[in-house]
Amino acid sequence: MPHPLFVQDFDYIIKGIVINYRELVRTKKFTYLEYKKRLIKTWDEIAPRYHKRWAKNNIGPFRSSSELVKLANIQTGYAVLDLACGTGAITKRITTRVGSTGKVVGVDSSISAIKIAKKENNHKTNLDFVLSDAEFIKFNKKFDVVTCQYALFFFPNAHKVLQNIKQYLKKNGTLALTLHGNKDSVPYFSSILDVIIKFIPDYTPQGTPNLDRFGTKEQLKKAISKAGFTNIRIQEYVFTYRPGTFSDYWQNYLKYLSKPLKEKIKTLSIIQKQKMKDQIKQKTIPYTKKNGQIIFPWKVLILTAKRP
Ligand SMILES: C[S@@+](CC[C@H](N)C(=O)[O-])C[C@H]1O[C@@H](n2cnc3c(N)ncnc32)[C@H](O)[C@@H]1O
Repeated sequence: MPHPLFVQDFDYIIKGIVINYRELVRTKKFTYLEYKKRLIKTWDEIAPRYHKRWAKNNIGPFRSSSELVKLANIQTGYAVLDLACGTGAITKRITTRVGSTGKVVGVDSSISAIKIAKKENNHKTNLDFVLSDAEFIKFNKKFDVVTCQYALFFFPNAHKVLQNIKQYLKKNGTLALTLHGNKDSVPYFSSILDVIIKFIPDYTPQGTPNLDRFGTKEQLKKAISKAGFTNIRIQEYVFTYRPGTFSDYWQNYLKYLSKPLKEKIKTLSIIQKQKMKDQIKQKTIPYTKKNGQIIFPWKVLILTAKRP
């Protein structure tokens, strides 16, 4: 059954997800298509692990979930769109806030993530989930608030997504976004990635956008104001995350990694892998306490803005 608010006019389907193929051809963004296919496959694979480790827990960067919902100033009776809702980390909180007179729609391009979000929100009558690419959302009604947590950097054409959001926000409606700070402010990512990239130069596949491009207040503000939003406010938080000892940190990184990246790491010789691990360990030393436990700072930006 198509969602009653959703206008179905798509003509290309990748693993059950609708992508407007004509639009991709028109804009000659074929690399987008490859990247998107890969991203959908990745999230379909890792969503259950992501949910278990991160999204369902109020730890480390996910302390942002309650902050975002607060700053978005969601009221009883509101219609809210949670874009790239994933496994529903904030969708659940929003649904409680809007109450039975409100309406929440969660959109994501991963069926596996949506299935988890649905299961976590069983029997809620004021909530629906739609499988779609954020670039191609089409609704026949407007929302009071659009939220998007930890996803804007994944969209290769983030500007287009922001313009879509604007189109489906009511006048004076609120956009509320959460993003990771740039890589140097999130050593959880940079300690490993800065080193891996030296050993496996194609670790980040071709066509992947720069995931760090909205990681400072200035970069984020510029992108949001370019899309025509006003009253832009950005709050910075530094949360802490405790991944355990270096060995826990590294083992968990491998455990939660997608299959293609695991395969790339496997191509290294034992000696190269040990060298890489040693260099990663060096990077974590500034954050390692005397008892061997790592405590990482984790910068997060939360933005609110208005549709004029
Ligand atoms: C880091 S997760 C964030 C999920 C959720 N907002 C949260 O806070 O846990 C990123 C999500 O973005 C989704 N995503 C990535 N690109 C997308 C796109 N173009 N359209 C819709 N969803 C997308 C992924 O499937 C994934 O569920």
